[in-house]
Amino acid sequence: MEIAKTKSEGELLNWDDINKMKYSWNVACEVMRLAPPLQGAFREAINDFIFNGFSIPKGWKLYWSANSTHKSEEYFPEPEKFDPTRFEGKGPIPYTFVPFGGGPRMCPGKEYARLEILVFMHNLVKRFKWKKLIPDEKIIINPLPTPSKNLPIQLYPHNA
Ligand code: HEM
Repeated sequence: MEIAKTKSEGELLNWDDINKMKYSWNVACEVMRLAPPLQGAFREAINDFIFNGFSIPKGWKLYWSANSTHKSEEYFPEPEKFDPTRFEGKGPIPYTFVPFGGGPRMCPGKEYARLEILVFMHNLVKRFKWKKLIPDEKIIINPLPTPSKNLPIQLYPHNA
């Protein structure tokens, strides 16, 4: 809303505005921590190695899972609590928050996704208040988390 106030009627967002949306991005990150859009992905061991006492032979397929660190008490105290302030300052230590993966095969669409999410959030929050029509709607993961009834909502203009 602070950014919306600096804009004249019909003026579009620019790149500087996007980079100022730190709190909104922290909120989006906390959503992706609790409900990662992708649960993880596969890797192939290129050498034999030992991890946590398990011996992994070269050629094995491995699955890394976002939830194993996103829900870890060690890296995210009170992991079930929704708390966007976790991402303030330096934020989580590297490779603990991985909704876009990590390493050389990390999602190349990350910055585009960030832009799209922030533009969507900005326009939604600026124009409307809303109410969920099914308060405890079930989320189905198949394989992406999706509201089972497609998230029906009632929109209200701010001055209503
Ligand atoms: C919220 C949105 C998104 C999330 C959470 C997401 C997440 C991910 C994850 C977890 C991976 C696997 C990374 C790894 O194996 O380390 C991935 C790969 C990939 N993503 Fe995304 N992604 C998103 C949006 C996008 C968008 C918008 C694009 C394209 C415009 C995109 C294109 C790709 C591609 C091409 C790969 C494969 C990269 C490779 O294997 O080298 N993603 N994404």
